[in-house]
Amino acid sequence: MSAEERSQFPRQIVLIGLSGVGKTTVGRMIAERLGWPFVDTDDVITSRHGRTPADILESDGELAFREIEAAVVAEAAKQSPAVISTGGGAFLNPRSRRALGERGLICYLDATPAEIARRIDDDDPDVKRPLLGEDIEARLHELDRERRPFYNNADLWVPVQGLSAPHGEGPKVAAQAAGEAAAARILHSWATEGARLVAQPRRLDRFAAVEPPRVPAAVVDTGAERYPVWVGPGEIGRLPDRLRQLELDNRRIFVISDANVMEHHGRGVAETLDSAGIAGASYIVPSGEASKTLRVAGEVYRWLAEQRAERRDLIVGLGGGVVGDLAGFVAATYLRGMPLIQIPTSLLAMNDAAIGGKSAVDLPAGKNLVGAFRQPAAVLSDVETLRTLPRRSYTEGWAEVLKHALILDPALLSLLEREAGALTTSQPDLDLVAGVVARSSRLKALIVSSDPTERGLRAILNYGHTIGHGIETATGYEQYLHGEAVAVGMMGAAQIGAELGTMERELLARQADLLRAFDLPLRAPGVRGRAVLEAMRLDKKVAQGRRSFVLLGGAGRAVVRNDVPDDVVQRAVADLVRE
Ligand SMILES: NC(=O)c1ccc[n+]([C@@H]2O[C@H](COP(=O)([O-])OP(=O)(O)OC[C@H]3O[C@@H](n4cnc5c(N)ncnc54)[C@H](O)[C@@H]3O)[C@@H](O)[C@H]2O)c1
Ligand SMILES: [Zn+2]
Repeated sequence: MSAEERSQFPRQIVLIGLSGVGKTTVGRMIAERLGWPFVDTDDVITSRHGRTPADILESDGELAFREIEAAVVAEAAKQSPAVISTGGGAFLNPRSRRALGERGLICYLDATPAEIARRIDDDDPDVKRPLLGEDIEARLHELDRERRPFYNNADLWVPVQGLSAPHGEGPKVAAQAAGEAAAARILHSWATEGARLVAQPRRLDRFAAVEPPRVPAAVVDTGAERYPVWVGPGEIGRLPDRLRQLELDNRRIFVISDANVMEHHGRGVAETLDSAGIAGASYIVPSGEASKTLRVAGEVYRWLAEQRAERRDLIVGLGGGVVGDLAGFVAATYLRGMPLIQIPTSLLAMNDAAIGGKSAVDLPAGKNLVGAFRQPAAVLSDVETLRTLPRRSYTEGWAEVLKHALILDPALLSLLEREAGALTTSQPDLDLVAGVVARSSRLKALIVSSDPTERGLRAILNYGHTIGHGIETATGYEQYLHGEAVAVGMMGAAQIGAELGTMERELLARQADLLRAFDLPLRAPGVRGRAVLEAMRLDKKVAQGRRSFVLLGGAGRAVVRNDVPDDVVQRAVADLVRE
């Protein structure tokens, strides 16, 4: 590499994120790889003042500490090359943000508060975590809420979420692996696009802003692509603004939707585009799974060709998971790929299908057999559209939200238990719904970002799906909606977890109460157990003979086991289908 080439890379990498997320570990790895010095601003404070940040906070108060910290950060920001790890709160100071943004590639390390709390729990008791107090997890949640708007401004979002290892290895081992993956990802992005990211116009203004701009609920960053997930009532009306933010304005928009959704929301979208002077056209497919075929995709291609759609134009998928999958598939393939925005209108699509870039159509031989990974440029979840969603679809949509809470987020789990009544009324408070959808979307985004092509961690999203898919197949996809089958499948998985002792039996009852509170089924009486097991066995073949089961290791925590005995599975399924 010539000196000139080298100078094109940012000469400073800055790590931000909550206390305990792994900034020091990841920072050291990167510094070692690049042969750069590693600067931990907390360590600098300690050596300079003879007291740790924790001590200073305790004796002098937060204000005094932030002054000291800002001075140290300002100095560190002048060093280059360097890998700089900052204290969790440092990035809240606009001066520090600007100083760090000047030269540094800003990388936000992200993991759920529950995961961070587990690691801290496992830490050396001598490591002091300033500001965390007694209930570490609750405090981390608070800090997360407060700081996320600032963190979300980063150039890169890097997941360091670990998976609890199957055989009792502690969170340390998982954290180490997640840390290595994070370091590799940062180095890759730094080399391939770091210079471009740091040179972006308006970037420093963003850092300098005293008030954080309104940030998306979540960001998906696969290492190659990154995009926001906006959640709120009225998002459809903000589409023109969002297009400007994404620099996707000045192009034609091709909306793909279905008949039901167009009936209720087509006009709103058309008026929004019209009043912003955006040229658009729409193609309406019949509602329902039958539209997810190559034949329908072919009709959409023909329409796009007639419309002379160009590669820079934009496809918008407006609808539930069926439309999202179809629009994603078309956007991935037409002209070898066009930009895509997902506007999910079902609860299932908002929390699941629209986030993660999977798209597919069905074949007579089976569902979702032909597809592509195609990340959208953004996801806009307008919870107002849920007002017209049929009741049964609204109800089944909660299953994936409950799943996210059960496998990843004990605090969301408690929130869902508290608010079940309010969320399931026929006219729910949309701000409350938006808050929950935002949290659930964030969990999905974090997992998808860790594992964009489904090689590892993303497997935990299959909680309840092994048996759930078996039930769907055994009943020919007619009797149970996906979320309903997953609810039953989660009960089966919890039964297995309780039997194998990965979790307490109490959690089984707690999950049952939760599903009941959301009007989801707990059992599938009358379904043929043999057929369910047979369908599961076929599923297993696809996975090279290894049947891994996602179980709970506690409230808000998933474990993956591939040693679940057949008879335990058989008993669990038999229980679920008994009349
Ligand atoms: N790509 C992925 O990662 C992924 C993940 C999960 C599911 N999926 C796919 O998603 C599909 C299921 O999604 P779904 O449950 O949203 O089905 P869907 O798209 O068929 O929507 C369900 C029904 O509700 C209607 N509808 C949707 N939004 C509405 C609204 N706001 N008002 C009135 N009616 C509305 C639809 O017209 C349809 O009749 C399946 O094909 C599944 O394979 C994909
Ligand atoms: Zn699912």
